[in-house]
Amino acid sequence: MIQKSGAAGAPAANASSYFSIRERAMRNPEEFWKEAAQGIDWMRRPAKIFDASAGVYGRWFEGGRLNACYNAVDRHVERGRGSQPAIIYDSPVTGAKRVISYNGLLAEVTLLAAVLHDLGVGKGDRVVIYMPMVPEAAFAMLACARLGAIHSVVFGGFSARELATRIADVKPKVVLAASCGIEGARIVPYKPLLDDALEMSEAKPGACVILQRPQAEAKLCKGRDHDWATLVDRARAAGKSVDCVAVDATAPLYVLYTSGTTGKPKGVVRDTGGYLVALNWSMKGLYGIRPGEVFWTASDVGWVVGHSYIVYAPLVYGATSVLYEGKPVSTPDAGAFWRVISEHGVKALFTAPTALRAIRKEDPEGKLIAKYDLKDFRTLFLAGERADPETIQWAEKVLKVPVIDHWWQTETGWAIAGNPVGLGQLPVKYGSTGVPMPGYDVQILDEAGKQVPAGTMGSVAIKLPLAPGCLPDLWRDEARFRSSYLEDFPGYYRTGDAGFIDADGYIFVMGRTDDIINVAGHRLSTGGMEEVIAMHPAVAECAVIGVKDAIKGEIPCGFIVLKSGVSQSPIDIEKEVVALVREKIGPVAAFKTVVTVGRLPKTRSGKILRGTMKKIADDEAWTMPATIEDATVLDEVADALGKTRG
Ligand code: COA
Ligand code: AMP
Repeated sequence: MIQKSGAAGAPAANASSYFSIRERAMRNPEEFWKEAAQGIDWMRRPAKIFDASAGVYGRWFEGGRLNACYNAVDRHVERGRGSQPAIIYDSPVTGAKRVISYNGLLAEVTLLAAVLHDLGVGKGDRVVIYMPMVPEAAFAMLACARLGAIHSVVFGGFSARELATRIADVKPKVVLAASCGIEGARIVPYKPLLDDALEMSEAKPGACVILQRPQAEAKLCKGRDHDWATLVDRARAAGKSVDCVAVDATAPLYVLYTSGTTGKPKGVVRDTGGYLVALNWSMKGLYGIRPGEVFWTASDVGWVVGHSYIVYAPLVYGATSVLYEGKPVSTPDAGAFWRVISEHGVKALFTAPTALRAIRKEDPEGKLIAKYDLKDFRTLFLAGERADPETIQWAEKVLKVPVIDHWWQTETGWAIAGNPVGLGQLPVKYGSTGVPMPGYDVQILDEAGKQVPAGTMGSVAIKLPLAPGCLPDLWRDEARFRSSYLEDFPGYYRTGDAGFIDADGYIFVMGRTDDIINVAGHRLSTGGMEEVIAMHPAVAECAVIGVKDAIKGEIPCGFIVLKSGVSQSPIDIEKEVVALVREKIGPVAAFKTVVTVGRLPKTRSGKILRGTMKKIADDEAWTMPATIEDATVLDEVADALGKTRG
């Protein structure tokens, strides 16, 4: 049964302009996006709003020229926002707080762009950014954009090997990194990981620029590494600056790698024009923010959510963005988010449900909220993983603001579906990610690619073309783009998610149709983990599934079958397998559980029955698959997990 929000004063659907706006965007998308494009400054207006003959499925704003940094920084200074805070850096892990005005941001970004320019970085060159949540990470992204260079940010929780894979694929001219990240009470030195990655990667950058943090200063390699502060100081002393370079609207702004169905990550390409237009529209239409207001996305610049809603969207829109280096709990307590909201006058917070579950565990009654004045706080947005109705209802109760789930992917760059608060909030339906945003024709398809009736589960697909801002391609791998997303359902983009649309047009995203799992809002490939586990010399076969977790939503659980004749104890091997995944993929995989089994359950054609294993692990009812090769194996799996037959 679908439950609707029963909060007093719940909004009525007919009070929202959403339906008329969406209808207009469906009927005449070019007119809709042409109007939205007026919110962006163009150096040359696009000749065509959508060119169906260009690219893989068409391109947005073909012929237009613009600069993302100009739109995010310079134009606000030119139009009188110079003294307004652009970024508020709040770091409970270091005790640092810093307000950077748009004037200040312009100065920082211009100097860093000059540094990169002097290192030979120009239009179309790639720059890898491997940094924690410090303002310099945002300066780095914007400095690249200023030069027309393409940045590729790598999340700090990945291993040296994952960093190496990305460096090898994107081939950066320069790497920008910090000496360390700070994870709660733990200092994570980044530089040794970078050094190892560069050792492994065939592609070598010409230079690395290292931001030294006092918590763990890094040793610099002569000839290759440069000290960030020294280069910036030199550029400042020499009075250097560089202007914004005009780039094509279809030119890549960044490449962001995300988990694919194998160990090789997919390089999601983001073009410039469509992205800025869509983000700018979303700040008002979806998030209901006005320029000058404070918007906070508690994510990491290494994820798409951080790219779009810590850096580009709030800044392009002329809002103030909070950049928070801390956790929802333990830095110092479960009131951390409420402290930041009250201290900085945050109007809307965007985070992952896992963060709320972590807070709720520590402070189930939300007592810490009472310590802070949240009068400015209007809306809480959630995304990154399925938001369970219980968590939403808890947050509504303790925060007394609307809690809005919305659904998107690295590939789309902004929400596919949500509840458009800025157009007039629609009623909330628990368990639903809301309604499609303008530009997205979302449909549920059966295996044959036919649309299914309302309320029926199927594959969630988007009819082409995708909305502005969505990926036009994978980095230098059009064949993989086609095979991963476009071939299963011709004429559609396959999201990889399963779900249904109800009779009111609300979308319910229930899970994945592939091997991707979502751990604490972080997207990971179980196939990638299996590839790593298979490297262990004692492992004959393995399978990884995502099992339910009360805080992280899902956590990976590995099953291994040992080679015959292995004398090492299974416990030791399990420990080594855990360490191997941490070393090869990184701590972010949160891979801590391995179970040794005699055999893996398979179908007669040899396919591992991961779905049934997951049901057993999650204590869900399961039935014996008709195609199983040997029915007793599932009982062995249940025994190994300490479960009884469901
Ligand atoms: N650099 C280095 N290590 C990192 C890291 C980073 N940037 N981010 C995470 N890690 C490490 C963590 O320290 C942890 O290491 P451990 O195994 O030694 O404890 C491991 O990776 C797993 O991290 P995580 O899954 O984040 O767990 P956590 O216990 O540290 O924190 C939450 C749990 C719920 C508080 C945390 O996941 C959170 O705030 N999630 C919000 C989700 C989010 O921002 N999603 C982005 C999409 S919206
Ligand atoms: P990422 O590319 O890391 O943003 O992960 C995208 C995937 O996370 C989606 O394909 C979904 O599987 C899942 N996801 C993101 N947001 C939601 C949501 N609001 N509800 C359900 N699943 C979500």
